[in-house]
Amino acid sequence: MKDILTAPWMIEMIHTATNMYDQGWDERNGGNISVLLPEEDVKDYISGEVIRTIPLKFDAKEIIGKYFLVTGTGKYFKNVQYDPARNLGLIRIAPNGTDAELMWGYSDGGRFTSELPAHLMSHIARLQIDPDNRVVMHCHPTNILAMTYVHTLDERKFTRTLWQMCTECIVVFPDGVNVLPWMLCGTNEIGEATAEKMKTARMVVWAQHGIYGAGRDLDETFGLIETAEKAAEIFMLTAHLPIINTISDAQMHKLEEHFGVKGREGYLD
Ligand code: 13P
Ligand code: ZN
Repeated sequence: MKDILTAPWMIEMIHTATNMYDQGWDERNGGNISVLLPEEDVKDYISGEVIRTIPLKFDAKEIIGKYFLVTGTGKYFKNVQYDPARNLGLIRIAPNGTDAELMWGYSDGGRFTSELPAHLMSHIARLQIDPDNRVVMHCHPTNILAMTYVHTLDERKFTRTLWQMCTECIVVFPDGVNVLPWMLCGTNEIGEATAEKMKTARMVVWAQHGIYGAGRDLDETFGLIETAEKAAEIFMLTAHLPIINTISDAQMHKLEEHFGVKGREGYLD
């Protein structure tokens, strides 16, 4: 059996969690990550023995047998690099669909993030749209969060504002961002609402809380959130000032043409 701490996906997870902490997106235990791993990539690193079974809060029958590397609840992103086995866990969805089998990690008796319903439901939703989706990432980026206090939560308007803040936003997230009003976190309800929003965009803002991103790998998903957060930062730096220039819809159409992307239907005039 190979050392799991040398697995490329483990190293990438540790680097990503550390990087997210360094960006200021994950204060204390804020944020959580889940990565869907093909059995092929995992099997050489685990014994196959189930350490313990942890109940899920819903029936995840669509993903029975699938492996996920998931951050632990109450665990600090800043500590992942120093003790991955305590702060991360590798789970497999049990044959009954309602339990998770712990294959590695949560070494202090811990368990997966309280936001696992939103993660797994988002994985299920995104896999229907993109079978190569592997990552769901949640964090609390400062400017996105700030923006939800001073900007309308209308999804078209929110997306258009972000697109207007940096030239390349429409290229990076042509599907825009969806927005949920404040809801109680850690529940199946917010999970279901997030997954529904994930059907039309790879980012879902949770007003007064943070953001969810989904993508094919950790880098891509990190980059999505990074780009939205950068745009939100420009917004927060300029929102109180007289705006005398912007990126026009005609210019957005030029970007669409040049980069071969199509902004969300009906979002540009
Ligand atoms: P966990 O510590 O359970 O992952 O929760 C953190 C968080 O960001 C809740 O939304
Ligand atoms: Zn959160």
